[in-house]
Amino acid sequence: MLFTRLAQNKHPCIRSFSKSFALPVFRGAFYFVTKGIFIMKIIDFSKDLMPAACRLVMENYAEEREAVSSLPENTLLPPLDELTENGLGVAAVDGDTLLGFLGAYGPWEPVFRTPNTRGVFSPLHAHGAVKENRIKIYQRMYQAAAEKWVKAGAASHAVTLYAHDTAANEAFFTYGFGMRCIDLIRSVDNSDFQNKENCVCHELTAARQSELRLMRRSLSDHLAQSPCFMKDSPEDIANWIAKREADPPRTFIAEVGGTIAAYIEMKPEGENFAAYSPDMLNICGAYCLPEFRGKGVAQSLLNYAIPILRSEGFARLGVDCESFNPTALNFWSKYFEVYTHSVVRRIDENAVNFY
Ligand SMILES: CC(C)(COP(=O)(O)OP(=O)(O)OC[C@H]1O[C@@H](n2cnc3c(N)ncnc32)[C@H](O)[C@@H]1OP(=O)(O)O)[C@@H](O)C(=O)NCCC(=O)NCCS
Repeated sequence: MLFTRLAQNKHPCIRSFSKSFALPVFRGAFYFVTKGIFIMKIIDFSKDLMPAACRLVMENYAEEREAVSSLPENTLLPPLDELTENGLGVAAVDGDTLLGFLGAYGPWEPVFRTPNTRGVFSPLHAHGAVKENRIKIYQRMYQAAAEKWVKAGAASHAVTLYAHDTAANEAFFTYGFGMRCIDLIRSVDNSDFQNKENCVCHELTAARQSELRLMRRSLSDHLAQSPCFMKDSPEDIANWIAKREADPPRTFIAEVGGTIAAYIEMKPEGENFAAYSPDMLNICGAYCLPEFRGKGVAQSLLNYAIPILRSEGFARLGVDCESFNPTALNFWSKYFEVYTHSVVRRIDENAVNFY
């Protein structure tokens, strides 16, 4: 649930798509020829490429929407300015045509809670590529971008891809990336799962948030165990819980025999531009006590919450989770559709230090 949040997602959309763009000065450009089929130049990602880049982002999003129909039709694309200014982005061009671009935010340190490790992150709106030769385009763009990222000291490279974009997934998988997080979505049109346990569900008021303190701590403990190994310091956990209690998300709980057995919490903000739709809420935490697991308690909670959201005018519900969290992966993918794969690669720190 804890993938890097981008403040940039909150910015208003860019919709000034123009049909062409002027090519920037090709400083340090290099050429790539495949059997005479097409010539691709890799250049710096610059402002003049932004309109064509926005168009590519929206085309790639439309492709994913064909596979995942509950994704919102109208989305707010964050501005790409920073990606053209921070010197970490590259673009692939063929003559006047933008074939692809790959930008990144960062570098940050520590990344993924690892002290002394820097990382960069390329979210959904920070890259895109045309369909034809997409694998090669992404591979060449990553080769050029990774050189910049490593020069900037970033050993950890993270990219969010569309789940059904097999070409982009193959390009990054082949180049050493593995999955870390997924985003999922469902419409709230129906929720006819069975209530398997006799549990009473309701919404928790802000005044009762401290009753979840132990469960939130247990969620943190769960994420620290194998195979997640996402361990926070006791101070960070205490701060996170205090923040949750001071400014609680919308929280639904299930009680069994008077005990709070599970909770699911939701907020408007999501982890990528598609999840910022005004008709959407995003699940940002869930926990069920181990003794109540596998009995349909969390499922009953979803069953309870979804009709309420529908009656309030929401159209969809999103969630994100670590793909290496077995309970989360199994549970969410039963009721939601996966639409992103966030993939990461860790470069040997020695290579970064000596580059
Ligand atoms: C995810 C969680 C809230 C689901 O609660 P639950 O009440 O057990 O869920 P339900 O009984 O309604 O559904 C059971 C489903 O959850 C998944 N699940 C439950 N326990 C599991 C386990 N030990 N290993 C793998 N999957 C498990 C399975 O898909 C299961 O369905 P199945 O029995 O048909 O295979 C609960 O497992 C949990 O608290 N896990 C630890 C914290 C966590 O991962 N939170 C999510 C953070 S994004």
